[in-house]
Amino acid sequence: MQISEKITALINEQINAELASAYLYQGIAEYYAFAGYVGFAKWFKAQAKEEVEHAEKFIDYLEEQGKKVLLSDIKAPSNEEYRDLREPLEIQLTHEEHVTALIYGIVAQAKEERDYGTERFLDWYVKEQVEEEANARALLGEYDLAKEHGEVLHLDSKLGKRE
Ligand SMILES: [Fe+2]
Ligand SMILES: [Fe+2]
Repeated sequence: MQISEKITALINEQINAELASAYLYQGIAEYYAFAGYVGFAKWFKAQAKEEVEHAEKFIDYLEEQGKKVLLSDIKAPSNEEYRDLREPLEIQLTHEEHVTALIYGIVAQAKEERDYGTERFLDWYVKEQVEEEANARALLGEYDLAKEHGEVLHLDSKLGKRE
C-alpha cells in the first residue's frame, strides 16, 4: 500500500519543519559563538546537524514510497539578538514541543488512514521527540542552576565536551 497524497503532503511539510529547526539551531549556535560561549555553540551545532538527519530520514521515506519530495522556503530564524543567554534555551524547549505536536498530527492521520507502515515509521520520531524535549528541559534546568551558582562558564565547558 503506497502512502496517500495527504500523508505525502504532511511529510513534505515536516521535511521543511526539520530543516527550519536546523536553521533555528544554527542561528542559536552563532549567537552563542559570537558571545564567546563555545560550548553552547557546539551543542547547538550538533542539534542543527541532528535536525538535518531528521529531514533526511523523511526524504528517504518519500523516495522509498515513490513519492515526490517538494522542498519549500525555509523561514529565517528571528534570532541574532536574544534577550539573554537563557532565551534560546526556552525557545528550544517551546520549539521541540511544537515539533512533537506536528509529529503527533502525522501519526493521527496515519492511524485514521490505517496506514500502519507510516505509523511504525513514525515511532522513531515519537521516541526522538520525547528525548529532545527531555534534553531541552534538562539543559534549561542546568542553566538555571549554573546561573544561580555563578557557574555558567563551567556549564559551557561541559557542553563543549559533547561528542
Ligand atoms: Fe527534529
Ligand atoms: Fe529536534
